[in-house]
Amino acid sequence: MESLSPASVAPNPISGAGLNRAEPAEHPILIQVRDLRKEYSTGRGRLVLFDGLSFDVAEGEMLAIVGESGAGKSTLLHILGALDSPSSGDVYCASIHLRKLTSREAARFRNREVGYVWQFHYLLPEFTAAENVAMPLLARGESKSNALNQAAKWLNNVELGDRAEHRAGELSGGEQQRVSLARALVTGPKVLLADEPTGDLDSRTSGVVFDLIERLHETHHLTSIIVTHNMTLAQRCSRILRLEKGRLQEISPQAS
Ligand SMILES: Nc1ncnc2c1ncn2[C@@H]1O[C@H](COP(=O)(O)OP(=O)(O)OP(=O)(O)O)[C@@H](O)[C@H]1O
Ligand SMILES: [Mg+2]
Repeated sequence: MESLSPASVAPNPISGAGLNRAEPAEHPILIQVRDLRKEYSTGRGRLVLFDGLSFDVAEGEMLAIVGESGAGKSTLLHILGALDSPSSGDVYCASIHLRKLTSREAARFRNREVGYVWQFHYLLPEFTAAENVAMPLLARGESKSNALNQAAKWLNNVELGDRAEHRAGELSGGEQQRVSLARALVTGPKVLLADEPTGDLDSRTSGVVFDLIERLHETHHLTSIIVTHNMTLAQRCSRILRLEKGRLQEISPQAS
């Protein structure tokens, strides 16, 4: 894989002295968040969503982020995935300093380093499951045959090999979310960012999709950050952070 230009890479990555660090000796830090602030100017003044957020995520962690609606969880996830910019502060992902990326480099980062899953699958309903999964590979210039081969492999990984030629719009909600998981991971990212990935599913299907996320996290050595309102699912993660009143608080999975 080509690397990003040297100007975009943290010359001297922070050694991980941040808050909430888990298992530092065994697992190197993959994501470093430093002094992050996000504010919006609204018609009614300034809305400070969070300020001074600093935390690390170790390679291989499965981190849950919980918190009230409107706390800023999605905004934080978007910043971690270079889909949004902070008002100030820094994020390093695999030593890549996100603030220093040009828009072209950011697009490349999004395509290669991170897989995204949303509450709503955002599949293209008229396209087949395989075509939907192949799209991120086509977007980065891979041949159609290679992209479709990879897509078929990933549909097998999410146990939907037999649905490859079905139109996405004809699949059930749980199946659509599994296709979107395959689309997120077909590019081979290190990081999975999931924003309420089971939020639109019934409880049984939520369990099935979460089982799959857990299994893919393990087998593909992912570092996963999962925003969820579902504390039962959050408890299955290795660490839980609660975003509340602009601050992150670590809560142990057992105590929550
Ligand atoms: N562009 C914007 N301009 C002004 N305010 C915004 C903007 N985008 C988001 N907000 C506000 O920021 C706050 C946090 O939004 P965010 O979507 O991050 O919350 P959330 O924790 O993900 O909530 P939910 O659990 O409901 O998904 C909300 O109050 C929202 O209205
Ligand atoms: Mg949200």
